[in-house]
Amino acid sequence: MLFKLKDGREIPVELYKTRVIQKINLTPARQRLKAMEEAGYNTFQLKTKDIFLDMLTDSGVNAMSDQQWAGWITTDDAYAGSMTFYEFADAVKEILGFNYVMNVHQGRAAEHLLSKVFCKPDGVVITNYHFTTTRAHIEVTGTSECLELFTDEALNTQSTCLFKGNIDIDKLKKGIQKYGREKIGYVRMEATTNLLGGQPFSMENLKAVRKVCDENGLLLILDGSLISENAYFIWKREQGYENKTIAEIIKEMCSIADIFYLSGRKNTCVRGGFIATNNKKLYDQLEPWLPVYEGFYTYGGMSMREIGAMTVGLREMVDPSVAGSSIEQIKYFVEKLDKLGIPVVTPPGGLACHIDARKFLPHIKKEEYIAGALTAALYIASGVRAMERGTISTDRAKDGTELYADLELTRIAIPRRVYSISHIEYIIERLQWLYEHKNLIKGLRFIFEPPVLRFFNGKLEALENWGTKLTEAFEKDFGKEW
Ligand code: F0G
Repeated sequence: MLFKLKDGREIPVELYKTRVIQKINLTPARQRLKAMEEAGYNTFQLKTKDIFLDMLTDSGVNAMSDQQWAGWITTDDAYAGSMTFYEFADAVKEILGFNYVMNVHQGRAAEHLLSKVFCKPDGVVITNYHFTTTRAHIEVTGTSECLELFTDEALNTQSTCLFKGNIDIDKLKKGIQKYGREKIGYVRMEATTNLLGGQPFSMENLKAVRKVCDENGLLLILDGSLISENAYFIWKREQGYENKTIAEIIKEMCSIADIFYLSGRKNTCVRGGFIATNNKKLYDQLEPWLPVYEGFYTYGGMSMREIGAMTVGLREMVDPSVAGSSIEQIKYFVEKLDKLGIPVVTPPGGLACHIDARKFLPHIKKEEYIAGALTAALYIASGVRAMERGTISTDRAKDGTELYADLELTRIAIPRRVYSISHIEYIIERLQWLYEHKNLIKGLRFIFEPPVLRFFNGKLEALENWGTKLTEAFEKDFGKEW
């Protein structure tokens, strides 16, 4: 929640208190260098004992409320017919407005089922922007590809456009003409666009996409993994929505889609996922696959405890102090970095503060994994684990050629209700130091490269041994114990 100070400044103030804590440690830079080398310059491969602030992701690591923990414990563990599932289905109906719902073990499991059932031979799936697992599931069907129809402004990292997650409606119409509606499996809107820097789409755009889908008989699928954040942005930024509640905005968004799915690890809970719809025919197409790949109809691969906590989380996420808690911290973080001249994605989005690595490290060649290098350097200089969202996160084309990502971002995620402003101040200070020493950072080279989703377990090495040189410079300025 933003509190206004007497001098006109606004600061994010937490509308909760911390009653359970987890201890964390900062290891010295020399030890961090060793950990980074052992992790193959890939932050996914670090162990948490070596991490100070874990800002890899918000997925599965948000803090749950006391009420969610209560929901976690008071569950009915039946294999079939569990009342916990029916209570969850009631919350889905109440908050999202959908009559039919099936749980899946996480977001990508929903993507698997949706791609399996709706992708067309030699077809495409149209989207405002892909997510890594979404694209992988569309492509592994062997039939379809992902066609991203974002606006030109979406790739401008220093922008004032409030809805960089919009689909470009002209491109959408032309895309449908080019491929033919019979080749299009579905149109997918991601709320908010993770890989564009957590940027939202507007309700106006969602309605315009719906209209084009109707004119062409196309399915509209909404990825609502971060729906309460997108709704919060609509509330704050879109004319005509300032007097609506987050609950009303979320319901309206859902009413526009044919099918809704989400990763339950973000806005609603810390585990799981689900697919929901009001169209019985669509539900019936998906349902037979649920027990094959996920689990019985009343748990779908999730534990009842997770479903119990998610039921509470669904109702809590419509509270603006919950929906906006990471967003307001991110805004504080981004605006401060921007003022200091550190290249950061603007306007601030959801999920994370995103550093534009191309602008931060203009001396590194695109073949040398710019965002990967910055992400590793940030860890060495601070103990903060961020995530590479650039070319390493983009798998090669089928013929092995490198596909350079549209954006090279270092994503510093803000898990919900986990870190404080003093943690953010610490990162800002270390990023400033890094920016002053950016010429010490060089590129990376793969030494082990898996064929699919290589960013998870690929291993790289630092060109010209830059990790050691950066550590030496750090020790010179801060001493050996930091
Ligand atoms: N869709 C979006 C928009 C996501 O951000 C994610 C996951 C998924 C689908 C897949 O869901 O992980 O439950 O299988 N995003 C995580 C992240 C991994 O770190 O941003 P999942």
